[in-house]
Amino acid sequence: MNKTKFPASFLWGTATAAYQIEGAGSEDGRTPCIWDQFAAIPGKVYEAHNGDVACDHYHRYKDDIKLIAELGFKAYRFSIAWPRIFPEKGKLNPKGIEFYANLLKELKKYEIMPAVTIYHWDLPLWIHEEGGWTNRQTVEYFKEFASVLFEHFGEDVPMWITHNEPWCASFLSYGLGVHAPGHTDWNEATAAAHHILLSHGEAVRLYREMGYKHQIGITLNLTYQHPATGSEEDRMAAGRADGFTNRWFLDPVFKGQYPEDMMEVFEKQNVSFDFIHEGDLALISIPCDFLGINYYTRNIVRNNPDDLFLGGESVRGTGSHTDMDWEVYPEGLYILLTRLKAEYTDLPIYITENGAAYADNEVISGTVHDDERVEYFRLHLNAVGKFIENGGDAAGYFCWSFMDNYEWSFGYSKRFGIVYVNYETQERLPKLSAYWLQDVMAANTIE
Ligand code: NOJ
Repeated sequence: MNKTKFPASFLWGTATAAYQIEGAGSEDGRTPCIWDQFAAIPGKVYEAHNGDVACDHYHRYKDDIKLIAELGFKAYRFSIAWPRIFPEKGKLNPKGIEFYANLLKELKKYEIMPAVTIYHWDLPLWIHEEGGWTNRQTVEYFKEFASVLFEHFGEDVPMWITHNEPWCASFLSYGLGVHAPGHTDWNEATAAAHHILLSHGEAVRLYREMGYKHQIGITLNLTYQHPATGSEEDRMAAGRADGFTNRWFLDPVFKGQYPEDMMEVFEKQNVSFDFIHEGDLALISIPCDFLGINYYTRNIVRNNPDDLFLGGESVRGTGSHTDMDWEVYPEGLYILLTRLKAEYTDLPIYITENGAAYADNEVISGTVHDDERVEYFRLHLNAVGKFIENGGDAAGYFCWSFMDNYEWSFGYSKRFGIVYVNYETQERLPKLSAYWLQDVMAANTIE
């Protein structure tokens, strides 16, 4: 049997995000975010589920962190709810600061390293009302938010992630309309992407200026765009899809430029790019300390001239599929990691999310037997191990997610957790995958 051994310094973590777990939607001064509003629009979110209660983590964080510690995680990635910190324009909420200070204190008690995502999609509604990410002013608001976080938590947080998945926060949200605020305009979407990236650059600059010496970086969601056949047409189509999901974000961050082929694609959608100002790209490409990537699946692409946007269509893969109907394709992670090293960066790469939704109905003797999730983790961790063996710097892995939670437009209908959440009682029940990871982490090895 093959063994995959991880380096002693490998950072094992688990991840969540504020809106998906906290609940306490209107407590201690929190005001609504774009997801509260979006969820209330009929048809946007499965059964109009929202984050009002979620996993009630706001009240149960002590028990949750205890469980994270018991399971043997060295790191915990979570996000800070912007509408708790700035519920109104210019108004800092001490209660918001207090909650995260307490959370950090609890993590310290168990010596769990915090990895903090500054923005994981819960844009305060008051900022949205001024245009949200389409408005350059939001970059200033983000800077103010980040500066408050650095000031309060800068010493205690060794790892900062400015943004989670800018592709989703811009293209899914302002272009494809399936995430809040649900707009469908490529001018807005590209402007939003640009302002998000710019705010990332501003935050990194600010972090350095404030004199902090820990790590700061960004998390991008990357999808392996796999040509349906070896034909030139399909390879070109996959290349365009790659431009859309991957290069549009990797190129500005690492090369200080937007990919020209994609600029042409967007120009055909009447995007004018006058939101790009001189100096922006230099700031966006300001050196970071690491790259975070979230990986879930591949997309198989076939050329299709009838598609007037990217000239392609997705083909269903033949591998097994998760409850999201995403194909399990661990090779894609290995291919992406190898390509990042070859084409983009030597920085340490953290897999800041990887995981799978399964229905998890089978409870035997008090455990959820999520064997498929175990297999998913095993395959993807092997891909990470192979990258490391071949000289790659994969510095850590955060499974998504610590517990079942609010899966955005799918509401609570999709379960990604390694811990089962009973939403009636808020009881937590570690699944088999949690115990499997516990063993792997303890041995630093996959048998
Ligand atoms: C990406 C996001 O960061 C996270 O919020 C989401 O729940 C997972 N992937 C699964 O879709």
